[in-house]
Amino acid sequence: MAAKLPVPCHIAIVMDGNGRWATRRLLPRVAGHKQGVDALRRCVHACIERGVGVLTVFAFSSENWQRPADEVSGLMELMAMALGREVAQLQKAGVRLHFIGERTRLSDKVRGGLAQAESATAHNTRLVLNVCFNYGGRWEIAHAAAALAARGEPIDEVGLSRAMGMAHVPDPDLLIRTGGEKRISNFLLWQIAYSELYFSDVLWPEFDEAELDAAIADYARRERRFGQTSQQVVAIPIAEKRTA
Ligand code: IPE
Ligand code: IPE
Ligand code: MG
Repeated sequence: MAAKLPVPCHIAIVMDGNGRWATRRLLPRVAGHKQGVDALRRCVHACIERGVGVLTVFAFSSENWQRPADEVSGLMELMAMALGREVAQLQKAGVRLHFIGERTRLSDKVRGGLAQAESATAHNTRLVLNVCFNYGGRWEIAHAAAALAARGEPIDEVGLSRAMGMAHVPDPDLLIRTGGEKRISNFLLWQIAYSELYFSDVLWPEFDEAELDAAIADYARRERRFGQTSQQVVAIPIAEKRTA
């Protein structure tokens, strides 16, 4: 059940470790990705129970195209399948879906599925679920800058923030990476400027409520200073220290 701790408004997750989870079981890597979808479903419901408002997950990076062709096609098929199978449930649970990333390289089927899922869930308000798919942080920043330039608008911080694919949500309070690696791998480069980082050794298919609670508990112990001194921020409860 919900931990009685200050809960981050926005949690972002690099869902890493699917391949290793499968390889350790002598299964094909795509079996790990399938298990990863189950872990995401669990995580979405756990976030809803805990009052998290926004969950952003990294599902496929701009660089993941460089993987073996059968893994890439397996991931694309899995996305198409998950869209068909999960959207009705998410809709019922009050989840609003957004897909962030470059769509032109995706198949018509996947592209259509993304658009359909977004419009079917557009009126939901319980949880915003951003799925970063064919996404790279550098792509997002460059894309935003190009959009501003094309409109002849100034390329400044406010303009860039508004032109980002993630402009509809506040910046993540907590960034979790599973799978043991301590790197960002081109995820939300712009938005994590002041996110608290949490690295878990658990492989994504095994990420469960207890792990989520451990990350939230760790987050609750952090002092977010946003450039100020400890003395300046110490009197303010963590719930009021979130980025706007
Ligand atoms: C993350 O798991 C999912 C994607 C990148 C699509 P990995 O497939 O990277 O799993 P590991 O890191 O090889 O174990
Ligand atoms: C990051 O994981 C991308 C996703 C989780 C979708 P990777 O497994 O691709 O990252 P690297 O290659 O280990 O940095
Ligand atoms: Mg990986």
